[in-house]
Amino acid sequence: MKNWKINSWRKYPVKHIPEYPDKKKLEEALNKIKSFPPLVFAGENRHLKSQLADVVDGKAFLLQGGDCAESFVEFHPDNIRDTFKLMLQMSLVLTYSASLPVVKLGRIAGQFSKPRSTPTEIKDGVELPSYLGDNINGIEFTKKSRLPDPIRLLKAYSQSASTLNLIRAFSHGGFADLKKVHTWNLGFIKNSPELKRFKELEDRIADSLAFMDACGINSDFNRRLKTVNFWTSHEALLLPFEEAMTRVDSTTGEYHDTSAHFVWIGDRTRQLDGGHVEFCRGIENPIGIKCGPTIKADELINLCNKINPTNQKGKLTLISRFGFDNVSKYLPKLIRAIKKEGLNVVWSCDPCHGNTIKLASGYKTRPFNSILKEVKNVFECHQSEGTYAGGLHIELTGQNVTECTGGAQKITDSDLSSRYHTHCDPRLNANQALELAFLISDEIKKNSTYSKNNIRAAS
Ligand code: PEP
Ligand code: CO
Repeated sequence: MKNWKINSWRKYPVKHIPEYPDKKKLEEALNKIKSFPPLVFAGENRHLKSQLADVVDGKAFLLQGGDCAESFVEFHPDNIRDTFKLMLQMSLVLTYSASLPVVKLGRIAGQFSKPRSTPTEIKDGVELPSYLGDNINGIEFTKKSRLPDPIRLLKAYSQSASTLNLIRAFSHGGFADLKKVHTWNLGFIKNSPELKRFKELEDRIADSLAFMDACGINSDFNRRLKTVNFWTSHEALLLPFEEAMTRVDSTTGEYHDTSAHFVWIGDRTRQLDGGHVEFCRGIENPIGIKCGPTIKADELINLCNKINPTNQKGKLTLISRFGFDNVSKYLPKLIRAIKKEGLNVVWSCDPCHGNTIKLASGYKTRPFNSILKEVKNVFECHQSEGTYAGGLHIELTGQNVTECTGGAQKITDSDLSSRYHTHCDPRLNANQALELAFLISDEIKKNSTYSKNNIRAAS
């Protein structure tokens, strides 16, 4: 890696990184973090990269989901459990109905910092700095709370560590055992069409397991039936923190950002000559790049070459997010450019960030129909270009929130206020997320770029 250092990003312009009023306190917090244990291990990042290489080859599907912004107040074991359950349910829908192994990647255990569209917010004539995520400042609309406070970094690290600890326990401690599929249901999903479909799926799985058991194959003997790999990810936005979490892997001498298995570069910080790209080009983690309407094909090619100069499979995931009615205008050009250059990428679809609207009531929401349409349009586009729509990136929660309108529960604009808890963008609730998983499994079944012959078992 030429001319790259763990801190070389500091020589480049950066957007969306706050000025801390107390530099000394920031230094002290970062020094502490440098001495803390890594949250993930380099070998895990390599394992995830190999799973993503399978996605590039059309042999697996990537499901990436979780909060827009994790928060200190929503930190609770039940919330972690419910997000985990929902991701397992969605994965099962995709694995079973579409015969595809699913790479499970949470927006969790470190997804705190947010780029905001305006640096300040005005309420009742008072102007204050915008909320930037719980690891930077507080959401309360007071001058004190909106000041960036480095102590929050330590609290966020600790929350991420315990979140990941519980996820690891769930993944390997028996909770994810296929025999327990009926316990993954979220209590509040009642009498919905998705629940009915999911229950039918559970029954079919129970039959298959009984058959396999009779043949002597069961979860007592086969680890794959009772454990899952559940990886973590967040936007690599707050570079001082990411730098402090970056360590040399003693087995290879490579640099890994040990704050998560996978990090992505946001749509607002993907400047070719900016600090975020500079930082990400030096770390070995798999990297995502958000691609919104302003990205040009040649810019994307340069970004890919800079971050993945050896064209390693599984290293890069391109996450398109255009808005449902913009897909056909922007996506085919990018697909053709990537194809022409022969670049290995996972094509993932974020149907959330291009479909956010602000209502007169002040609520930010996403109509579920727009989300479904973006997914359908993206699948259609890949189908006609002959490329593989390999992933979904969504903001969701296992909680019964009312943040996105529509779906089988028919949430209306006026329902939003009843359970609107997000600290940033509106998330799909469990019903809506399951409905989306079923839609994708239907799309996959229709799509000729998915070849069952390619599929190998999930690990
Ligand atoms: C996000 O994923 O929360 C986000 C801010 O997305 P984007 O960079 O695509 O706007
Ligand atoms: Co968001």
